[in-house]
This record gives sequence, structure tokens and C-alpha cells, in this order.
Amino acid sequence: MEKLRFPKDFIFGTATAAYQIEGAYKEDEKGESIWDRFSHIPGNVAKMHNGDIACDHYHRYKEDVQLLKSLGIKSYRFSIAWPRIFPKGFGEINQKGIQFYRDLIDELIKNDIEPAITIYHWDLPQKLQDIGGWANPQVADYYVDYANLLFREFGDRVKTWITHNEPWVASYLGYALGVHAPGIKDMKMALLAAHNILLSHFKAVKAYRELEQDGQIGITLNLSTCYSNSADEEDIAAAHRSDGWNNRWFLDAALKGTYPEDMIKIFSDTNIMPELPKELFTEVFETSDFLGINYYTRQVVKNNSEAFIGAESVAMDNPKTEMGWEIYPQGLYDLLTRIHRDYGNIDLYITENGAAFNDMVNRDGKVEDENRLDYLYTHFAAALSAIEAGVPLKGYYIWSFMDNFEWAEGYEKRFGIVHVNYKTQERTIKKSAYWYKELIERSNK
Ligand code: FCB
Repeated sequence: MEKLRFPKDFIFGTATAAYQIEGAYKEDEKGESIWDRFSHIPGNVAKMHNGDIACDHYHRYKEDVQLLKSLGIKSYRFSIAWPRIFPKGFGEINQKGIQFYRDLIDELIKNDIEPAITIYHWDLPQKLQDIGGWANPQVADYYVDYANLLFREFGDRVKTWITHNEPWVASYLGYALGVHAPGIKDMKMALLAAHNILLSHFKAVKAYRELEQDGQIGITLNLSTCYSNSADEEDIAAAHRSDGWNNRWFLDAALKGTYPEDMIKIFSDTNIMPELPKELFTEVFETSDFLGINYYTRQVVKNNSEAFIGAESVAMDNPKTEMGWEIYPQGLYDLLTRIHRDYGNIDLYITENGAAFNDMVNRDGKVEDENRLDYLYTHFAAALSAIEAGVPLKGYYIWSFMDNFEWAEGYEKRFGIVHVNYKTQERTIKKSAYWYKELIERSNK
């Protein structure tokens, strides 16, 4: 294994999200979120798991910050639970919620770890779902009030802000496939939800800039390189459509303020394009300081007129993670160089990359997660090659700092570089985390 070395100022991080780790789901006046509601309904989450307790991070954050520090992590990406701040989504502010995040931020800074905040990582206040959730444009305005409050409370110390995590997942899995909260199955509504999320992103960026806080703000998209299954023209066109919905829809919107024409036509022809006032993007569009990229796997696509947008994903015969996702580091290189080519010189961060494997704590009390180490090594190597090819990649956040509640999959899928025993809440540093520590030390020397 050749030893990797990144540029000296490269930001090495790890990431988590509030609902996946915090627990304390109704403590200190926190309001109900759509994930509280969704996970408590039998059938929605594997084994009826939920985030009621999760990693109990709400009570153990100090210990967790010490763990981050011991690994030499430079930056920690976490999200804020909107219903802790506004239990009803708007109106009355819950000071106890603010205090928790203030303490966490102070603890991080005290330990030389840069906080990077995701404002929305899927846990919408249930009260806002009751008025239509993201399908209701009013929710976008409540979001801006919420974001504004966070800027004002924490903006003096927090210099990296991510407005949204993966609008594709929040809208498509939540509103079209119904496998995530709020569990709706209506593609037109999903497009509407995605649109309002994007609008709320621009409005929050504008609000942030008006405060002149001297930090950076951007959005995180889940992106996945789409390859054609064959040299056949129809398959190539199918891969392009897949790229259109998975990547270009959100990349074009976030970075150019437009939707791709070919996809608008497909959605209009199939009657799933919602009515959207045309000038909306042009009026509210704001550039981002950076783009956050979550990359896990690629897609190989073939034409199938029966499938959604006529594109079917083909399973490849390569090694896969516990999620069933093909391991394909070349896809990360292709993605980074392509975004740089097609979307200009914007700073890029990998805000999530990592793998679920079936880890065990062995008799010596160790977790020898060679498979994850290998996954991370090959993906970091791909990222380094992209930097060498001229891509302005500034940082990399491993998903995840610790094992946690993997949404519809519950606790069975472990993504952490730190193992969590959910019975005792004991944390065990995995071998991959020690590898990361060394990489950080070597690069920052
Ligand atoms: C991403 C999510 C993150 C985590 C990983 C595995 O889609 O942003 O919360 O669940 O997948």
C-alpha cells in the first residue's frame, strides 16, 4: 500500500447527522421530527429501530469530541436538529436546544476542531410536515428564519455552513419512493419538494451574506457517476437521463440556477413536472462558495422503457459493501474531474464518503476493519489523483465518525470508523480510524 500524502492545508474531517447520533429525542423540549414520527410506525425501518437513543451523543458529546481529537480530526461536520431549536418549526425558540449546540461548538473549538454545520439533514419538525412539508413553499421561508437564527447565534465561531444535505434523497426517497420520512409516494410532489428545498438554499445563502460573517456557505449533493452498460446508443442515452435526474438536475440548479432542458421535457411529457413559476431561480439565485459532494458508488445503466425515466440500473459483478453498493473508486475520480470541467472553478469538498461493513469487536477488543480501510484508501487515492489533475478539492469528510442509525436500515449497517456498542454505548476505535490518523499526521507535517 503506497503511502498517501495530501497538501498540507487539506481539511481532514468526519461527518455525522443529528437524528442518526443524538438520541434524547424528546428531551429539553425538543419537538417531534418527521423521522421520530416515521421511525415509530411499524414497517418503515428495519427491525423497528429508531433514533430515540441512537449513540446517546446528546449526553456524551464531550467524550465524543475527545475521540475526534485523539484521532487528529481537523474538522467535524454535524447537523443541527431543527426541532430542538424551533420545536414547532417556527415561532418560539427553545433556548435549551441552542445551548446544546453552543456547548458542542465550544467544546470542538477548545479542542482545535473546526465545526462544519449542516443546517438541514432531513429531520424536519413534524408540525411543518402537517402543513405539507417541503411541498409547501412556506416551509422554505421558515427554513430561512431557522438558518438565520443559527447564523446569528453561532456564526461568530462557525465558518463553514452547508445549507442542505442531499436534496435528491430528501425529496425523491421521502416524497416519491416513500422509503424515507415523510413516506409519501408522489413524484410530482417530490419535484416540488426538491424545488422548494433549492429555493430555501438560495434564500439562506443570501441571508448569510447579508450578515457579512466572513465564512463559507454551500450545499451538499449526493452524486453518482452514471456509466452506460454498453456502447449501444439507447443505453448511452439512458445513462445520460440517469445522470440528468441524479446529478444534473441538482448541479445545474444549485450552480447555474437552471434545470436541464432534456429532463424538463421528460418530466413534462410524463406529466410529473409541477407548475413552477419560471423566473423563481433567476430572482433568488446565489452562487455558492463551495460544493459538498457525497459519493458512495457509481451507477451502470441500461435502457428500459418500463423503468422510471427509461433507465434501469444494472448490478455489476464487483465487490460490494454491506449496503449492496458496488465499490468503485474510479467513479470518484471521474466525478470530481467532470464537475470541475463542467461547472467551473468552484471549491469542492467531499462531505461524505465511506462504507458499511459487518464489523465485530474481536476477543482482544479490537475492530480489524480491513475492508473499510481498503475502501477508504482507494477512495482517498482517487481524490488525491483528482487534486493532482488540478481539481480544487479542499477537504474530505469520512462518513461516518461513528456507527449510527442508518435511516431505513436501522442500526444493522455500520459506517463508523469508531464502533458503537448500542447496549453499553461503548466506543471502540476501528483500525480504519488509526489508518486515518496516520494519513492526517503524514499530510499535515
Ligand atoms: C447519505 C446520508 C448519510 C448516511 C449515508 C450512508 O445518503 O447523507 O446520512 O446515511 O448516506
